[in-house]
Amino acid sequence: MPKVLITRDQIANRVAEMGRQITHDFTGESVMLIGVLKGACLFLSDLARQINLDATFDFIAVSSYTTAKQSAGEVQLIKDVTGPLQGQNVILVEDILDTGLTLTFLTRLFQARQPRTLKIAALLDKPSRRQRPMQADYVGFIIPDEFVVGYGLDYAEHYRNLADICVLDNDAPK
Ligand code: IMP
Ligand code: MG
Repeated sequence: MPKVLITRDQIANRVAEMGRQITHDFTGESVMLIGVLKGACLFLSDLARQINLDATFDFIAVSSYTTAKQSAGEVQLIKDVTGPLQGQNVILVEDILDTGLTLTFLTRLFQARQPRTLKIAALLDKPSRRQRPMQADYVGFIIPDEFVVGYGLDYAEHYRNLADICVLDNDAPK
């Protein structure tokens, strides 16, 4: 079984803090949460309930890790948002900031659509893996260079439903 790195209670407490911070930063305004499928869907649904503001949701999908632990090195948009971003306070919600390739691609794409503000909320951050200079505005946990699964994160599409964030044992059976 995968080894627990961050417990469900730690996740809940930190996500609540992130929600309070976002609520504070956007007082009196609306926010548009854009989740990066599929990994961010659990994080978005918990974070959204901790944000005490008018909020809308949208989702995008990009190609990244497909069936393995290695990134292809290039990012493609597979599914776009359904509405315009112009004038919106957009918060991109991502499961993990790793090499930075995905968020570099997405911030460039979305900045061109003239949102009022564009912020990034990443549950996890692995700064030691960065290939592009990229920082999230809201970070849940900084973690070491280990491959993690659970709470939305997958290995070859498995383990997304684990309630805790776990480190995948290299020789663990799937
Ligand atoms: P980046 O473009 O390298 O920053 O990668 C971001 C994407 O890589 C995330 O949305 C995840 O889907 C995936 N990823 C990176 N590290 C991990 C990990 O440790 N476990 C599972 N997925 C990961
Ligand atoms: Mg992913």
